[in-house]
Amino acid sequence: MAKLIDGKLIAAQIRAELRKEVDEHIASGNRAPQLTAILVGEDPASETYVSNKMKAAKDIGINSVTKRLPADIGEQELLDLIDRLNKQDTVDGILVQLPLPSHMRERVVCNAVLCEKDVDGFNEINVGRMCLDMKSVIPCTPLGVQELIKRSNIETFGKNAVVVGRSKNVGMPIAMLLSSDGRNETSAMDATVTICHRFTPPNKLEEYCKLADIIVTATGIPGLIKANMVKEGACVIDVGITRITDVNGKSKLVGDVDFDEVKKVAGHITPVPGGVGPMTVAMLMKNTIAAAKNLAEAKKERSN
Ligand code: GUN
Repeated sequence: MAKLIDGKLIAAQIRAELRKEVDEHIASGNRAPQLTAILVGEDPASETYVSNKMKAAKDIGINSVTKRLPADIGEQELLDLIDRLNKQDTVDGILVQLPLPSHMRERVVCNAVLCEKDVDGFNEINVGRMCLDMKSVIPCTPLGVQELIKRSNIETFGKNAVVVGRSKNVGMPIAMLLSSDGRNETSAMDATVTICHRFTPPNKLEEYCKLADIIVTATGIPGLIKANMVKEGACVIDVGITRITDVNGKSKLVGDVDFDEVKKVAGHITPVPGGVGPMTVAMLMKNTIAAAKNLAEAKKERSN
């Protein structure tokens, strides 16, 4: 039976570490880190995500503000708000909750966030730097997956990893991190990585997964990863999160993995909920504190 990777517990440990880091930052004469989230429209899932992020921030001593904009606001007004926040000395982190309404260009909006305050790591300069193994802001979910693997002592060096899903914010960066060589400014994971996606034939997906020591799946397709696709002892990380109505008519969250069956063959497995989700929030806190520290340092250097 697989060992459960308890993301909720690991995220709580990380938040406790971060709370200390915030206390030390303030004790050495700095103001509390500050995070501003921008929520456009009233998507219920986005409302929940942002509210969880803001609660976590408050809990560890990060000041947090949510700016709410109506769904029909123009893109330029959103860009103007981002510009004001970029210039505000009292703002360390800016997060634009995605998805945005369809009349807005997500890439333009993500690029408008100053790299130093881009706690989501979605600005194309941060994405490019990450791909080059340079110091950058790593997107929160990929960073959370990396941290879960590290803290669970899962060996990645020379191992086969399969990433299912190639989204630019999740699958792609996870694949980059897993294959990183540590020769530049980021830490090594040194896995042999295969990326599977919607056009990977089902029999090939099964074949690739079966060879994997580590499977990270991020598709939003409930039950995609079945027990017969998993090598005995493999580590299975489930990033998928889908709300379904079960046979009793109850609404619940499920991942991409057929958890009850896969746990019988895997060596390690993350649950949904309580796996990667809480780690995403914890990594947002980590990125915000890092941004606050870097900005405080840069300010000190400017005044010297
Ligand atoms: N929407 C879903 N996940 C995320 C995330 O990690 N960051 C932002 N900004 N929006 C999201």
